[in-house]
Amino acid sequence: MPVITNIEDLRVLAQKRVPRMFYDYADSGSWTESTYRANSADFQSIKLRQRVAVNMENRSTASTMVGQPVAMPVAIAPTGLTGMQHADGEIKAAKAAKKFGIPFTLSTMSICSIEDVAQETGNHPFWFQLYVMKDRDYIERLIDRAKAANCSALVLTLDLQIIGQRHKDLKNGLSAPPKLTLANIANMMTKPRWGLGMLGTKRHGFGNIIGHVKGVENMGSLSEWTAKQFDPGLNWGDVEWIKKRWGGKLILKGIQDVEDAQLAVNSGADALIVSNHGGRQLDGAESSIRALPQIVAAVGKQIEVHMDGGIRSGQDVLKARALGAQGTYIGRAFLYGLGAMGEEGVDKVLEIIHKELDLTMAFCGHTNINTVDQGILLPGTF
Ligand code: GLV
Repeated sequence: MPVITNIEDLRVLAQKRVPRMFYDYADSGSWTESTYRANSADFQSIKLRQRVAVNMENRSTASTMVGQPVAMPVAIAPTGLTGMQHADGEIKAAKAAKKFGIPFTLSTMSICSIEDVAQETGNHPFWFQLYVMKDRDYIERLIDRAKAANCSALVLTLDLQIIGQRHKDLKNGLSAPPKLTLANIANMMTKPRWGLGMLGTKRHGFGNIIGHVKGVENMGSLSEWTAKQFDPGLNWGDVEWIKKRWGGKLILKGIQDVEDAQLAVNSGADALIVSNHGGRQLDGAESSIRALPQIVAAVGKQIEVHMDGGIRSGQDVLKARALGAQGTYIGRAFLYGLGAMGEEGVDKVLEIIHKELDLTMAFCGHTNINTVDQGILLPGTF
């Protein structure tokens, strides 16, 4: 077993252990993947200011997101098909997040259902991410199910009414459960841990959807399925309706533009997430970390601003925080841990990111994450 010291180690291990179609699903962006790459690359060009001889005792990374306490300003992002990276993946990740004291966000497109995650985590509150589908009765029931399960925030995704083309998903014939073609069987036979885990669970399809929407059984291809089910007509009027129906903390995900950020403020949401969906939708969009400062400057006093996209380390979290993000989300980073080692792998991801965040904050001369601001960044590099 290799010594794991960073997120890249877990990515390498996940690539070995997770069947190709699911690993590729997580680790790809749309079309040329330029935005996917820019999300992480643009963090690298932002430089930190080293400060010395500052008392670094008694450090704290504790903060809040939408008024809820978090052990560090990092939440687990909603990711589709998480229960295909590892058996019962959503439950495993939710348990890791609960132990660490950060929010877990369950995707509409999860394998484990809302009720299942609630039950397996002892009704500990988690966040629920909503995709709006054409069947509005179903959406109302879904919102009600999230309320009944004690979810403490609703994350409404606004950037996936239609789906960006991911070449690998089409080439791999991505579906859940996977179609048993010869190529898939041959690939899965090289992933015995994954296979054993899957044999030990009954959770193999979309838990929030199958049995709740008429006529939807298993997914054909992701792109066809999305085109059939997701509502391309979603608009700001729907946000109002969803906000009313939900009645709790509402977070709008997928804002990249200052004009949309203003509309998010007008909608009365509690927070927005600067996000390009991990570079999986509009290829050619600016990286999230580059889009963040303009949005914070425009609306940061009126709404809480979060960000996701490209975070692979605590240093990245610190830079996002310095640029005004009250919270950040990790998607691929936690999926690598999950695919590599299940719940223990997600524990590791959170430990690694926390340690990097804590030590880097100290090197920059701060002992409390809540005092960090742009002053820790080298002028001209952000
Ligand atoms: C959404 O679920 C995605 O595949 O990006």
